[in-house]
Amino acid sequence: MLSPEEIQEIQTALAHCESNFAAGLDALKIVQRRRGWISDETLQEVARFLEMTPAELDSVATFYSLIFRRQVGRHVILLCDSVSCWVMGYESLFEALKKRLGIGFGQTSADGRFTLLPHPCLGACERAPVMMIDDELYGPIEEEMIEKILARYE
Ligand code: FES
Repeated sequence: MLSPEEIQEIQTALAHCESNFAAGLDALKIVQRRRGWISDETLQEVARFLEMTPAELDSVATFYSLIFRRQVGRHVILLCDSVSCWVMGYESLFEALKKRLGIGFGQTSADGRFTLLPHPCLGACERAPVMMIDDELYGPIEEEMIEKILARYE
């Protein structure tokens, strides 16, 4: 069941949208922020609240890559793999992250702390190479900085 806080936030979002359908993405973001990801059950709860079918809402979720339909770690690392970052050292950064976390793209570290995902341009090319952890952008990143950055996340 949606919590009273989730319902209140979704209703606030709805007030700024032309239709429940238009509020679908905001509603999913609100719930994901609290629950970490969108399970099938959660999708159904949100769809019911918005008077949409789960399939309609799922199409919104599928379209937007930052709605996680599979369980993720407590923190999600988005590593930019577009041109500027690639040129500025994406590959060695990726290798260092893989080695440090013991995972590849689409996987979650054994302690459940981090999920690592590739992402197209994060809109900060001047800071390449960049990665984002949850809502925080880091860049330019050098390998030696990784440990210190990761230590900020429990
Ligand atoms: S190419 Fe990486 S932020 Fe734009």
